[in-house]
Amino acid sequence: MKYYEKQCESISVENTVREIVWSKVVANSAMAAKLLRLHYHDCFVRGCDGSILLDPVQNVTTEKTAGPSRSVTGYDVIDDIKTALEASCPRIVSCADIVALAARDAVSYQFQKEMWPVFTGRKDGNISLATEVGVNLPSANANFTTVLAQFETKGLEIDDVVTLSGAHTIGISHCSLVSRRLYNFTGVGDADPSLDPTYAQTLREICPIPVNATTVLEMDPNSSLSFDSQYFEALNQHKGLFVSDAALLANAQSAQIAQVLQKPEVFFARFARSMVRMGAIEVVTDDQGQVRENCRLPVHKEAQRFYKQANGRDFSWFSPSFKFLFSSDTQFHTIQASAAERNRRQRYRQLRLRQIQYGISKHRPPQLNSLNSLICSIVRLRRYCNSLPPSSPSAPVLPPPFLLHLVPDFHPKNLRSIRI
Ligand code: HEM
Repeated sequence: MKYYEKQCESISVENTVREIVWSKVVANSAMAAKLLRLHYHDCFVRGCDGSILLDPVQNVTTEKTAGPSRSVTGYDVIDDIKTALEASCPRIVSCADIVALAARDAVSYQFQKEMWPVFTGRKDGNISLATEVGVNLPSANANFTTVLAQFETKGLEIDDVVTLSGAHTIGISHCSLVSRRLYNFTGVGDADPSLDPTYAQTLREICPIPVNATTVLEMDPNSSLSFDSQYFEALNQHKGLFVSDAALLANAQSAQIAQVLQKPEVFFARFARSMVRMGAIEVVTDDQGQVRENCRLPVHKEAQRFYKQANGRDFSWFSPSFKFLFSSDTQFHTIQASAAERNRRQRYRQLRLRQIQYGISKHRPPQLNSLNSLICSIVRLRRYCNSLPPSSPSAPVLPPPFLLHLVPDFHPKNLRSIRI
């Protein structure tokens, strides 16, 4: 939250982002939902590293071209923010942080105050693969077990699944995504029995056969521009739009959480907590990542030249060897990503989530030592053992005090002083 204060002394990064985002939301109130979804799709694929922003080139398809992310928008808002920040504070503010701040500010406009803290200091990744989207983002037709499992691989818990699904209190979807629920749920021309029959009829009137895939639907009926707890009221009346929404009532524990979240004050507080946790998924900091100058182009020198040229749709001057250099580089990164890098990211993700939890709850995470590792090998006390660092002892190496303001918020030293 203070990460950019000293690095961009001429401007306030957070104010700049807020001013631009609020002006966009004033011009188009649907933008709040777009920016919130953009952040979610960024974080669930390769962590919150701005990888969704990278444009595809030639035969390299990136995240934004993959089916589940094809309807994601808001990239032009991120571009405008980036342009403004590069003009006054070049190559300092990461695209990943801009996405996280923009999502918070877009939702917050309605309340004219910050709805959750955004930790800053994320760096940008330079890999974006369309093939990684489908496996990482839950489908609208997923059952509860699948959705929970997918959230758990991101270090999130059942409470986060239910709470973050409440993001569907704003925004729209399309008839194509619910037509099966309305017309042919089990293949015999029936509707999903878990959907309220009156609501199903209303939806059929909006989405008549033959279903027009481009017809839009509010996800939270009559309240899709207002960020409130009405999604949970509708859900509890069996008016959740997707199978994945309705599935929250299929599990006793999540159904109970969905009951409690009908209270606005509970929903807002829990949503803030879960957004902080989502914003910490597989975050890369310091020299693990880079800061892009243009959020659509990776920093990698050769790749950047390639991408720039690709934008002009002229590949003619690239020698075959140069193309090879680029593609072998991509393959190298892909291989890395699927083995060592994945392990490293997994360990970081767990550690950072713990740091955040402990930062918020004022406690120091327990350190791994022979005694507690012995205890955990015999009796697995779930909360305690899960909170141990993945490998011993990961005490943070702190920079000298005068450099602490350059430390990302995700640093344990900073996290201990942050409260939500
Ligand atoms: C269980 C996991 C989730 C599933 C299956 C899911 C699925 C979907 C689908 C299918 C759409 C409509 C896309 C379209 O018709 O173009 C959508 C929209 C949206 N989702 Fe989710 N989502 C999930 C979780 C989340 C989370 C965690 C967030 C944010 C924290 C979120 C925020 C949104 C928003 C704001 C929209 C509306 C976008 C707009 O108006 O353009 N979703 N989601």
